[in-house]
Amino acid sequence: MEERTAMSFRVSGNEIWVLDQRALPQEENWLPSKTVNDMIGHIKNLVVRGAPLIAIAAVHSLAQLAEQGASKEDLLLAKKVLLLSRPTAVNLANAMHSLVSNGTEPDPEHIAKAAAKLFDDDVAMCERIAENGAALVCQGDGIIHHCNTGGLATAGIGTALGIIKRAHEQGKRIHVFVDETRPLLQGARLTVWELEKLGVPYSLIIDSISAVYMERGEIQKAFVGADRIALNGDVANKAGTFNLAIVCRHFGVPFYVAAPITTLDPYAYAGASIPIEERDAEEVRGYQGPGEKIFWSSKNCCVRNPAFDLTPNALVTAIVTDVGVYSGREIKSGCLEELSQDILPTC
Ligand code: MRU
Repeated sequence: MEERTAMSFRVSGNEIWVLDQRALPQEENWLPSKTVNDMIGHIKNLVVRGAPLIAIAAVHSLAQLAEQGASKEDLLLAKKVLLLSRPTAVNLANAMHSLVSNGTEPDPEHIAKAAAKLFDDDVAMCERIAENGAALVCQGDGIIHHCNTGGLATAGIGTALGIIKRAHEQGKRIHVFVDETRPLLQGARLTVWELEKLGVPYSLIIDSISAVYMERGEIQKAFVGADRIALNGDVANKAGTFNLAIVCRHFGVPFYVAAPITTLDPYAYAGASIPIEERDAEEVRGYQGPGEKIFWSSKNCCVRNPAFDLTPNALVTAIVTDVGVYSGREIKSGCLEELSQDILPTC
């Protein structure tokens, strides 16, 4: 495989390494991924996370297996299991649909090239999203952000966080309100880590306090990412996004979703058909650090833990993509359906 390096992903020859995002910000541990099973474990356990990076890591894992001389049957099986590793983010399915099919013999070189292209395209898409989105940011804006959408979640500078980075580089005086993002704290652990590296001013806040800062007039815009966008503009993203969108609507704060077009699901006409991943109850009951688990609820309490929620299109001010910014009105008139033609299988 061609050599590539991102903030949390490295590939060189037949080796793949991933930065363990569970251990951040305390430790920066790089873990190898030698097999498809390793990669599935990394994706399920959120060592590797973020819709674009999940796709990049999984496709490289398939390329690694092909280079190791796997048969077509093994590759087809690997593709199937990788696709099931995290069901909500659609980038993986979009990236994999044309790789390894029943009809033709797999070509390791073709899969490795596709993996490298996916990486490079993602870097370029992040740049274009940043450019398109930064134009929406004004001098003095307070910006609220949910989850982590930065370099850790993509091959490039990120999506919503890439916009924030670019606006800061353009000299815009901004302040980021970082939702901590319960239950796994991607905001508190990962977004804060990235913003500190970038030197962007921020305040970490608990998820449930955003209304207070909007009422005080300290937040002018919200930028979030997406795991899957339906053709009618409904958005699946990290749990808590829907709540935030409702609060934004109440206070008249524009709510922007940033994503590459590879996050569009060409087969989902509305959010209702997007599968929402339900995760382990243990994530909500307490905290498992390197030592003994700390419970803040009773040990067997009943839990419901959807990892994502669906924000209806009516709450989305605009979707910022690598190919343009689409307002609610444009989305209603079918522009996402048109765009999705580019990611439909060609065979
Ligand atoms: O469960 P996670 O951490 O993978 O969830 C990630 C998100 O919800 C992100 O907002 C989304 O994947 C976009 S990342 C550019």
